[in-house]
Amino acid sequence: MGGSGLAVRDLSVGYGPVRALRQVSLDVPQGAVVTVLGGNGAGKSTLLRAVCRTLSFHGGAVTGGTVSYDGRRLDGLSPDRVVAAGISQIPEGRRVFARMTVADNLRAGALGATGGRADRAAALRRVHELFPVLADRAQQHAGLLSGGEQQMLAVGRALMAAPRMLLLDEPSLGLAPLMAERIAETVREINTQGTSILLVEQNAALALRLATRAYVLEVGEVTLSGPADELAASDEVRRRYLGVVDEDAAADAERARASHPALTRWKG
Ligand SMILES: Nc1ncnc2c1ncn2[C@@H]1O[C@H](COP(=O)(O)OP(=O)(O)OP(=O)(O)O)[C@@H](O)[C@H]1O
Ligand SMILES: [Mg+2]
Repeated sequence: MGGSGLAVRDLSVGYGPVRALRQVSLDVPQGAVVTVLGGNGAGKSTLLRAVCRTLSFHGGAVTGGTVSYDGRRLDGLSPDRVVAAGISQIPEGRRVFARMTVADNLRAGALGATGGRADRAAALRRVHELFPVLADRAQQHAGLLSGGEQQMLAVGRALMAAPRMLLLDEPSLGLAPLMAERIAETVREINTQGTSILLVEQNAALALRLATRAYVLEVGEVTLSGPADELAASDEVRRRYLGVVDEDAAADAERARASHPALTRWKG
């Protein structure tokens, strides 16, 4: 099983009797941004937990298939060994340590890393360059940050381990569009700096703009996959994940609006 990057093959996962993933296969080549789209309960977080080996904390277990990184099997490793192998995760719902300072949250992110003091200092510089607000608020309790700032801290904390691959679980969830856009820009920049990204999202419009390749997960199975631009153009994805209803209906509505300029009464 050669090739560089992450390879998931026929992965099945269960939480007791609940089957959450069925024979899922997926690749994240080194250097790529790959996205997994899917609605609530599709199995997106489960997939990330299986990769970073945290399923058991949630009462789940792999029941079949393999996960490897750079040709090396990850199955059987402990979560900290996965971090040491170069894969860091930003879990669902951000989970910063609210009562710890911003600086201590970042320090905690470096705990699983293999590098020394100089590497940690370099990682911290990189995080502060990406998110200057984290330097300004270094001594503040993380719980006092805004939702968007907490997401930045969660991303920054994961970067402190200087990962070669970053797993992101719905980073745009609950953020205002402008803040979601900033996070997206940062994800792109992190990738440009050489880190591969596996991005799980319900916000398909944002994810498909960032990714080169996309997978659609439905009730635990991959139902669609391909180049992100092809998926963005597919009727199925447009209707189900991009909120495009019916093009003819939209065009009709546009024509109706043009012929009835309903807002004229607001003009001065
Ligand atoms: N800890 C758990 N115990 C039992 N079942 C679980 C657990 N976590 C998830 N599941 C079930 O596994 C399936 C996949 O859930 P998962 O959280 O991976 O979905 P998701 O795609 O991340 O959804 P969301 O977008 O809502 O976060 C669902 O049917 C869910 O109910
Ligand atoms: Mg989830």
